[in-house]
Amino acid sequence: MGTVLNPFFPPRSWLYVPGHREKMVVKALERGADAVIFDLEDGVPFSEKNSARDLLRSHLSKIRGASSSILIRVNHVDSGMVQEDLTIISDAVMGIVQPKPSTPQDILALSKLVGERESSLGFKKGSLNILPLIETARGVLNAYQIASASPRVSALFFGSEDFTLDMAVKRTAGGEETRVAKSLVAIAATAAGVQAVDTVYPFIEDVDGLVREASAAKEMGFWGKQLVHPRQIDPVNKVFTPSEEEVREAKRYVDAYEEALKQGLAVIALDGKMVEPPIADRARKVLAIAEAIALRAGSKAS
Ligand code: COA
Ligand code: MG
Repeated sequence: MGTVLNPFFPPRSWLYVPGHREKMVVKALERGADAVIFDLEDGVPFSEKNSARDLLRSHLSKIRGASSSILIRVNHVDSGMVQEDLTIISDAVMGIVQPKPSTPQDILALSKLVGERESSLGFKKGSLNILPLIETARGVLNAYQIASASPRVSALFFGSEDFTLDMAVKRTAGGEETRVAKSLVAIAATAAGVQAVDTVYPFIEDVDGLVREASAAKEMGFWGKQLVHPRQIDPVNKVFTPSEEEVREAKRYVDAYEEALKQGLAVIALDGKMVEPPIADRARKVLAIAEAIALRAGSKAS
């Protein structure tokens, strides 16, 4: 299954950390998120961009063997700040979150700058990933072209806060205003062979609302969620981890189906339900996700 090869698989929890907040930065990798995104964009005021770069450059150069994937979020590709932002990259960094791309050309423009930085650091060509954050109306309509613009693209993020700003609508806890856009992003990501990651949930005290939004996103085809607070990590990891019951059921389906195949059957009935190839494949996918999560937890523990 191609998705397992993605460097960020399984991409459940992605914690943003404002790049100038030293206390948050130094402890960020201890919080247990699958991925940490050190931010230089909207989480950092203009007056603090330089101090954030200095802090992150020094911090990232010292990291060895982190158990979370490490990303940075740079400023908009047209801001004139990106070349400076990319100077913080060390070999601990796996990729760059690109805010507000609206066209595939935006991805190509960033990819060119990333390529230059990569070669000046002596990194293997193409080793740095780009993770576009779709958060404009044009971006949503161009999401498939954006996701397919470069082999560097390895996940597609959706961002509700800027999307609702662009649409001049309210960002509600229920999220009805973003349902269609999210669905388009999840479909575009799947069509391009990458995983979709859901928006941040800014209501940091509201864990029930967070779990509701994450569960709805999972049903739409998202694989994980961006986060703004460490308290959101465990509930979101739980939503995107197959439960023991789901794993047990998936095993039963796979075992029964493989037995049926041996007997020359392609469709069987199990527990009053028809089981055919896509249902068996879905069960295999649940097992692959559970296995990848267990492997990741094992490598964190060792
Ligand atoms: N990353 C890492 N650590 C964080 C964190 C984050 N995003 N948010 C909070 N923490 C830490 C705090 O430093 C504190 O640590 P400590 O217990 O070791 O002292 C602990 O978590 C509890 O924090 P709390 O007091 O509840 O939060 P706060 O009031 O300090 O901060 C926010 C609230 C919203 C300002 C903060 O969570 C934040 O800045 N989030 C990221 C916002 C962002 O990046 N936005 C742009 C992307 S959408
Ligand atoms: Mg944004």
